[in-house]
Amino acid sequence: MKKRVVVLSGAGISAESGLDTFRDSNGLWANYRIEDVCTPEALARNPERVLDFYNMRRRQLLQVEPNDAHIALVNLERHFQVDIVTQNIDDLHERAGSSNVLHLHGELLKSRSIKNPDIIVETRGDVSLGECAPDGAQLRPHVVFFGEEVPELERGAKIVSLAEIFIVVGTSLAVYPAAGLVNYVPYGVPCFLVDPTDVKASYRVFKHIKKRASEGLPELCSLLISNF
Ligand code: APR
Repeated sequence: MKKRVVVLSGAGISAESGLDTFRDSNGLWANYRIEDVCTPEALARNPERVLDFYNMRRRQLLQVEPNDAHIALVNLERHFQVDIVTQNIDDLHERAGSSNVLHLHGELLKSRSIKNPDIIVETRGDVSLGECAPDGAQLRPHVVFFGEEVPELERGAKIVSLAEIFIVVGTSLAVYPAAGLVNYVPYGVPCFLVDPTDVKASYRVFKHIKKRASEGLPELCSLLISNF
């Protein structure tokens, strides 16, 4: 029976693919105000600005590729049961070939009816004002905005509670409830952090590999394969 590795990933794992993080010096939130592009109020007040923000990010996503960090997690599946709980809305884990990916904050390549969150469509191009879902309501990004529910949280907590090895990679753990998932890791489970900066990872003790993901994650995966 393969041991279960659970990975909580954030924007940092996609940084070396060329996608901006949020809170690094030139991150998205240094260039855009959250209240203008990532809240339900912003969508109601100025839907075009919100749609354009996600159209820009979607165009950028379609220009980039998974990096060695994403690929290391795919290779890890040969030796472990690997479940990824990601805060990212990009599809780079899936494109790299990871089998089990749960998106806590939604997916950039999906849109949904502004009226009915269960009506979801695939989106690879831009979404414009007046473009409607099958129910006739305006399409919006299938992304969790600040102040909105995180429907996949319970599933994420269940997955983390079953971890036998836990990895945090590329997240500042600054946003709740996602960051609170760290508290669901059973006691005694080895915890690893891959990030070039110090991240306060609550009261958990992490072995910190202070490197960028594309270097630190392959290194960690080799260590796990030879030691567990
Ligand atoms: N390799 C590994 N980690 C990196 C790299 C890299 N090359 N570059 C940056 N990082 C780290 C940063 O040090 C930081 O700890 O990635 C983390 C990025 O943190 P954030 O920008 O806050 O991104 P994230 O934690 O994913 O944000 C969480 O906030 O705005 C919301 O919904 C959004 O899902 C997002 C959530």
